[in-house]
Amino acid sequence: MVVVANRLPVDQVTDPDGSTRWQRSPGGLVTALEPFVAGRSGAWVGWSGSAGDAPEPFESGGMSLVPVPLSEEEVDRYYEGMSNASLWPLYHDVVEKPEYHRTWWDTYVQVNKRFAERTAEVAGEGAIVWVHDYQLQLVPAMVRQRRPDLTIGFFLHIPFPPYELFTQLPWRSAIVEGLLGADLVGFQRPSAAANFVQLARRLHDLPARSSTIEYDGRTVTARAFPISIDVRAFEELAASPQVVKRAEEIRAELGNPSRIILGVDRLDYTKGITVRLDAFQELLEEGVVQTPDTVMVQVATPSRERVEHYVHMRETIEQQVGHINGVHGTLGGPAVHYINQSVPREELAALYRAADVMLVTPYRDGMNLVAKEYVAARSDLGGALVLSEFAGAAAELRQAFLVNPHDIAGVKNQLVRALRLDPAEGAKRMRAMRRHLAKNDLEHWANSFFEALRAQA
Ligand code: ADP
Ligand code: F6P
Repeated sequence: MVVVANRLPVDQVTDPDGSTRWQRSPGGLVTALEPFVAGRSGAWVGWSGSAGDAPEPFESGGMSLVPVPLSEEEVDRYYEGMSNASLWPLYHDVVEKPEYHRTWWDTYVQVNKRFAERTAEVAGEGAIVWVHDYQLQLVPAMVRQRRPDLTIGFFLHIPFPPYELFTQLPWRSAIVEGLLGADLVGFQRPSAAANFVQLARRLHDLPARSSTIEYDGRTVTARAFPISIDVRAFEELAASPQVVKRAEEIRAELGNPSRIILGVDRLDYTKGITVRLDAFQELLEEGVVQTPDTVMVQVATPSRERVEHYVHMRETIEQQVGHINGVHGTLGGPAVHYINQSVPREELAALYRAADVMLVTPYRDGMNLVAKEYVAARSDLGGALVLSEFAGAAAELRQAFLVNPHDIAGVKNQLVRALRLDPAEGAKRMRAMRRHLAKNDLEHWANSFFEALRAQA
């Protein structure tokens, strides 16, 4: 099996002294795929995360990693431009305005071709190739053209927009044709799969039924496979004595507040970080909650830092945190503890264990694995999850306190309910969500995708 994704599971970083090292790549795709590929000794074709020549292929954590090079200009146009300033906002309900530039598109085609060529070189006879995410939507057709012997699956980790939004894209037909190169196209939600089938029908006038499209003498299936995490591994990590002890230390370091509210995200405008800061700020102003009795921790991994929308969003969030702390903090006792860093998995698990309320408020999110990690971490049945209706995870974690992130009054109400939750009621909700997750874990996701792909081949 060969997995193809924009990023390798590890990023090459250069330290100030000029030495280089590998560190875990950010984001949900890596969280989900890494344990799966490692467990099957698969190959992973992807970018090393820095511009310039690619390192030679190497073995890491039971996987064969095959780096694909990107020049500075390609990083600028393919990754930051077409992928993250055109497709990302377009696929997330146009939360920010997408920009369309022909030079970005030309480079997107060129880079997708390079990924396809490298994949065609490394895949064994009759292998399964699994292409991932919006950065590589042309790769399925490009691989098929080069290697018709391969079985090709594609999975989109982010939402897929409806016809009315998707058709803004000047290169809409090429994207649909690229995806139709796969035997199976997987989405997070059934509505996304339906959007894709409808596009193929209306844009290309193809015969299509509810989940299949006839194209080029083949049948392409489009279905939902909601992604998950390695639930047992995360649960074990979070219940380990070191993590439980660290959770107690975190509470003490925060001044032993009676309530800790937590947010954990890539620093991305789709995640609705300002929504939760607004809600917390208003509750503080109204005296509904007080510091130091209630504090908030926001951990936000830096992400796509050269893309304009991300620069503005970071400034806005940092100003807002500064304002809340200026008005409501005390010496040595901020109301919002803001960490703009990636933290190790153990620390993340300890934060989840320490948090009384987890706030997950994206305007739109394909799935949101943070919500699933929080539930997996709470084998003690403590804590409460406040979750946006617009995250894919909301379709599964029905016992969360669901919110519309555009409705600030509603977010405040649900936050207050979660903060005042009766422990028995909280445990009941947590137990139900954990029961769902135990059955719908990473293994279940990957097995369902592969079964469907084999049935198709
Ligand atoms: P996305 O794929 O859009 O980033 P997800 O919520 O699906 O969103 O996945 C995010 C992943 O990144 C999760 O596994 C989460 O634990 C991890 N993550 C997010 N923020 C941090 C952070 N500050 N430090 C370490 N890991 C993080
Ligand atoms: O699906 C979410 C996703 O965009 C992945 O494709 C990506 O690997 C991850 O988030 C992190 O984003 P980036 O690779 O741009 O840092």
